[in-house]
Amino acid sequence: MTASSGLRFSIGDLKIGVATCATQIEGGRRDTNWADWASLPGRIKDGTTPLRATDHWNRWQEDTTLMGDLGLQVYRMGIEWSRIEPTPGDFDTEAMARYRTEIRALRDAGIEPMVTLHHFSHPSWFEAIGGWAGEVAVETWLRFVRFVVSHLDDLVTDWCTINEPNVFAVGGYLFGEFPPGHTNDWVGLRRVLAAMARAHCAAYDLIHELQPSAKVGFAHHLRVFDPLNARNPVHRALARSNAYLFQEVITDAFLAGRFARVLGGQPDDVTPGRRYDWLGINYYSRTAVSKIGDGTFPGSPVNDLGWEIHPEGLVSVARWLHERYPGPIWVTENGTCDNGGEGRLETFRSRYLHDHLAAIAGSGLPFERYYHWCFVDNWEWAEGQVPRFGIVGVDYATQERTVKDSGRFLASVIASGGVTDEAYAVHVAPQRYRLDTAPHPRA
Ligand code: FCB
Repeated sequence: MTASSGLRFSIGDLKIGVATCATQIEGGRRDTNWADWASLPGRIKDGTTPLRATDHWNRWQEDTTLMGDLGLQVYRMGIEWSRIEPTPGDFDTEAMARYRTEIRALRDAGIEPMVTLHHFSHPSWFEAIGGWAGEVAVETWLRFVRFVVSHLDDLVTDWCTINEPNVFAVGGYLFGEFPPGHTNDWVGLRRVLAAMARAHCAAYDLIHELQPSAKVGFAHHLRVFDPLNARNPVHRALARSNAYLFQEVITDAFLAGRFARVLGGQPDDVTPGRRYDWLGINYYSRTAVSKIGDGTFPGSPVNDLGWEIHPEGLVSVARWLHERYPGPIWVTENGTCDNGGEGRLETFRSRYLHDHLAAIAGSGLPFERYYHWCFVDNWEWAEGQVPRFGIVGVDYATQERTVKDSGRFLASVIASGGVTDEAYAVHVAPQRYRLDTAPHPRA
């Protein structure tokens, strides 16, 4: 690659695509923990439910064609457990066949699929038997995993066992924002995290037994925790302990089958040993720590949900993880909500993309994949339909899709193998971040 090619930076062999989650885009399922939760008053900020979302279950062909047109190379998607196993032990082969058709179409469009096996959502009947805190959680989920993997093993080799166990458990058992809505339930939190880690280790072993060529990992939500005031010893100590409790303890359990005492100690059914083929990182933001909970640094760039935009943080969490657990790094999610303004669908997402890709390109770390969150705007859990995370916009009234500036920018990065001067001038240079003016720290 010569300097005269007009490339500001090359992305090398990085494969680029997008990530989604079944519950957030498909619509059509009433019998999940999230549909149940959303039907209770006051749980979802804008009162919406996942019952329609972006209607992807019916519009998957249009969405797949669009992904192909953008030249996406990889796609991380979810399988809705309640579709496949609507009642315990009863598997719906038609629903499975429908997923097979979609995945085959993705492959025909030149897109390599990755399947996530648990992404915050599960059948109502699973929640009714205690969900991930229940006695039989692990073996019940593994039965589903066995079914899915053995029905897709000719089409899929990339498997993401569990999405963001820490966010799921903290949201559902500490902060009460996710189902089942417990607050300060430290016992439940510990049970759920330990069960999910046992489940991941067992699923890693099982998937390799069913499909020796499989590439298995989990999507770990990692953030940067920095003290709000670096000279304040309380802030410093809390930043350290928040990072340890929120993300470090489970890193060892998931990736190495090593369970610390805070997780209840080593379970009988897990032998320590490597349980990853790639290091999955969902990275969004940095937290300014002054207590348990989040905050931002005054004057920092923030998105429309108030999350700090801190691109270097992606590299620091990846470096931290890779030093402990060497392996190829797959960014399983990274993105921002950008609701636009002044008649535009977005005002800074292309800059966000550029800055994170530039950080990856300059890191010297073995990043292999980058899955941008998200393909289309979608149903954002407790936040409802308001935040817009897609590189493709959705008009919820008509379900019409519109490729945004960032979608065109991402397509150009893939086509050019990096960011060209021209793409920078068209997509990135005109964009600006908004700076945080909220009172600090946020609750
Ligand atoms: C992550 C979730 C994903 C989406 C993004 C914005 O924590 O994994 O489903 O909600 O945040």
